[in-house]
Amino acid sequence: MQISRRRFVLTSLATPFVFSTVSGLRRATPWANEKLRVAKVGCGGMGTNDLMETAGHKMVEIAALCDIDRRQLDALRLGTKDDKGNAVAPRFPGVPAFADWREMFAKMGDRFDAVVVSTADHMHAPIAMAAMNMGKHVYCQKPLAHGAWENRRLAEVAAANPKLVTQMGTQRIATQWRKWGGKLLRDGVIGPVKEIHAWTNRPAGWWPQGNARPAGSDPVPEWLSWDLFLGVSQSRPWKDGYTPFNWRGTIDWGTGAFGDMGCHMLDVPFYELELGMPLTARCTPVKASKDQFPESEAVVLAYGPTPKTSKDGLTLKWYDGGQFPDFKAIGLPDGWEGGKEGQDVVKGDGGVILVGEKGIMWFPIEYAWARVFVDGKAVELKPEEQRRTNHWHDWVDACVAGRKDACVSRFEKGGRMCESLSVGAMSALEPGKVLDYDAATCTFRNSPEASAMLRRTYRDGWKVDNL
Ligand SMILES: NC(=O)c1ccc[n+]([C@@H]2O[C@H](COP(=O)([O-])OP(=O)(O)OC[C@H]3O[C@@H](n4cnc5c(N)ncnc54)[C@H](O)[C@@H]3O)[C@@H](O)[C@H]2O)c1
Repeated sequence: MQISRRRFVLTSLATPFVFSTVSGLRRATPWANEKLRVAKVGCGGMGTNDLMETAGHKMVEIAALCDIDRRQLDALRLGTKDDKGNAVAPRFPGVPAFADWREMFAKMGDRFDAVVVSTADHMHAPIAMAAMNMGKHVYCQKPLAHGAWENRRLAEVAAANPKLVTQMGTQRIATQWRKWGGKLLRDGVIGPVKEIHAWTNRPAGWWPQGNARPAGSDPVPEWLSWDLFLGVSQSRPWKDGYTPFNWRGTIDWGTGAFGDMGCHMLDVPFYELELGMPLTARCTPVKASKDQFPESEAVVLAYGPTPKTSKDGLTLKWYDGGQFPDFKAIGLPDGWEGGKEGQDVVKGDGGVILVGEKGIMWFPIEYAWARVFVDGKAVELKPEEQRRTNHWHDWVDACVAGRKDACVSRFEKGGRMCESLSVGAMSALEPGKVLDYDAATCTFRNSPEASAMLRRTYRDGWKVDNL
């Protein structure tokens, strides 16, 4: 019986750590009827969603799994129990699993075509860049990267490689609400835009921010590879609760509420207005800390003009942790300050308001249609349904078709926006100071301390080419 190359690869995959000696298996895109082989880094939390959404595409085969938390891998490969104690069958039995993505890349590099990254923010860039360096397509969670420089480099390297298909994990951009809002902006309904106000209720009640670095250390749990979690970030002892999830408030690993939610809220306005790099940033924090982002903050970023903004440029005003814009001063009619709980427009969760020369637009985060106001009155607009797509599947389809431009959040675009968000987030390290951003070097001209986070020095032994 003839064994096809495909069957040979699949057979050998069933046994972890046994490797094909067949050379030339690497593919930029799969050939007809063959699947896109995906390696998954970070399998808990949003990583589970990313894994299941990606694996749900009929052209995808999950080739390898990686997590620094052994419990996540065990659940996927060996099965788990639900809340009532009933056994849940393993979803990916026999798929090779690793704690260290570098080992997975080295040992399995010829058996996957694409990588999905859903780790803590500080490891997005090293993993995504290492994957691109190997010629792999990449889906990477938002924010695309932690520092401004990393975002810039991911965007540049993606742009320089026309065959690599990339997507940032801002799945809300694929919803009809955000698509229609984008269309209104494209149609110039509110004219050239001069201000954006954006607010979120995070981090309050979601994850800790504003605290000093905890003293001492705790015993590292047996399920955790702590040194691998730290990765490129500077070494520190383990303290209970650092991971999963809560890492996002710590400056070394996350990007705070601004980086976390800004991607979901500002992507469409940012892309439609073709915003470039900020000129200045100023953060007014509540309960600032050197270890964590503030408990709450207001951040102002100034941009130069684009063809879609007012000729004097644009000001982005960000509020988080329970702060809101002054809706009345912006010019919204009474009762329209983002709506009320229980309605489609929910003020408490967050929102975006764009102030144009001809009107004001309330831009939804999701699950609501945009609203437009002119001269202090709501304008009757009939929402037009937009084609709904699945963000993960859009990326898989683009990989299969070799169409990088089919991805709306490709790294060239996502990296540009996330560079701005990193600048805004890291401005918290210099409370109250107007920081001059030097886009040529991805640093602040007047803050070495905040610049050190925009362009980090990686820990010894963690050098990644192109970063
Ligand atoms: N698009 C969205 O709607 C959305 C929602 C939530 C989170 N996210 C993003 O997803 C990412 C993960 O967030 P989360 O809330 O799921 O965090 P989490 O801590 O709950 O999950 C991260 C997973 O990655 C693993 N991990 C961490 N570092 C790793 C490494 N170096 N190598 C391998 N595995 C590693 C963790 O053990 C954990 O299983 C973040 O970047 C976050 O911004 C996106």
